[in-house]
Amino acid sequence: MPAGSAWCYPALLLLLSPVPLWAAELSCRNEDGEAVDWFALYKLPKHAKGQISMLGLEYLYMDALAPQWQLGKYLINMTQGALGQTLQQLYETYESKRNTTAYAIYNDEIPESDSKGSKHGHTKGFLLLDKSQGFWVIHSVPLFPPIPEDGYGYPSTGESFGQTAICITFKYDQFTEIDQQMLIYNPGIYSCSIPDIFQADLPNLQKLCAKSRLPSVPLCHLSKLQSAHGETFLHFAKSHLFIDDIYVAWMAQELKTDLLAESWQRSGEKLYSNCSLDYHVYNINIIGTPLNSTFHSINDHSKWAVSRKYNQWTCIGDLNRAAEQAWRSGGFICTQNEQIYKAFRHLIIQYESCTSAPREL
Ligand SMILES: *[C@@H]1O[C@H](CO)[C@@H](O)[C@H](O)[C@H]1NC(C)=O
Ligand SMILES: *[C@@H]1O[C@H](CO)[C@@H](O)[C@H](O)[C@H]1NC(C)=O
Ligand SMILES: *[C@@H]1O[C@H](CO)[C@@H](O)[C@H](O)[C@H]1NC(C)=O
Ligand SMILES: *[C@@H]1O[C@H](CO)[C@@H](O)[C@H](O)[C@H]1NC(C)=O
Repeated sequence: MPAGSAWCYPALLLLLSPVPLWAAELSCRNEDGEAVDWFALYKLPKHAKGQISMLGLEYLYMDALAPQWQLGKYLINMTQGALGQTLQQLYETYESKRNTTAYAIYNDEIPESDSKGSKHGHTKGFLLLDKSQGFWVIHSVPLFPPIPEDGYGYPSTGESFGQTAICITFKYDQFTEIDQQMLIYNPGIYSCSIPDIFQADLPNLQKLCAKSRLPSVPLCHLSKLQSAHGETFLHFAKSHLFIDDIYVAWMAQELKTDLLAESWQRSGEKLYSNCSLDYHVYNINIIGTPLNSTFHSINDHSKWAVSRKYNQWTCIGDLNRAAEQAWRSGGFICTQNEQIYKAFRHLIIQYESCTSAPREL
């Protein structure tokens, strides 16, 4: 037995034992207010065929503790839901003016503003962290969330169409990586606080927040992130200078998988299913929920893609398959979590083949 190994063992054990997510730590929150490693939600469109009547506020919800779709316990405009509970931590930080916590809220369509931030990324989300840990939410809802001064709410313009959101809890060290991705995103930040104690680790977020001069931006960057509980995520960020369809030109080829893609089809020039490169991308046409309601993708503003088969990737993000989105910055976060994959893959009823005849399943 090599000398010293007996001494190293207990120390290693301590290092490797999973750190519990204490209730007080900044974290994604589920519908009961408990800390969760991640959650995903799918706000259903108002116009869906099925048994339950739709207000446009109902959503499917899953998280690391309950990893299969269920109907959300609340409506999306209620503070008790997972989005409301998670954001509440950010709003409390704002109120307490804590200088040990950093946050940023960004959207290309800013609440209570007429400007469409097309000089910024086509990207929507918010993050909150302290020097221990925090969370990042990526979503598709325009004009959301409200500024902290106004408190939680959900915009009526977000009711008609489907929307997606994913929240992931990260340890502090992962945010230096996220900070790099933010530079590429060039997000339209409309509320933020990045205190000086974060200057060394979050230089880009601090500059974006202060609207000061930015360093030169890489074309694109793929980042490997790990959630607080050790789940791996791949994050794709492209700048406005990466002038191509992120789904076909990058994600499908990088992940080495055919992708089935759901995104907003009503703006600009539609991109058809594409089989030109090694790995193909097919547009989804019809979604069916576990509640037996169905809707057409034309009523969906969400942005996600899954492997057609085999390697089980799920990507959730903020760019559409539309010609003019080639000139916008933005990205996707991808996971091979089996339950997330099953949940999204099983929603797909029909997608468009490359010869444009629809294909079942
Ligand atoms: C949520 O929306 C429903 C339907 O419009 C409304 O009845 C309810 O008062 C709203 N709740 C909140 C907290 O805004
Ligand atoms: C942060 O806040 C504490 C307590 O309010 C204060 O003592 C401290 O000087 C502040 N630090 C900075 C860097 O502003
Ligand atoms: C498929 O996508 C690639 C990458 O964006 C593009 O170069 C090619 O022209 C597209 N093919 C078709 C048939 O649209
Ligand atoms: C959905 O339909 C299937 C097959 O018709 C049925 O077994 C299931 O109970 C239905 N689920 C709901 C939630 O209505």
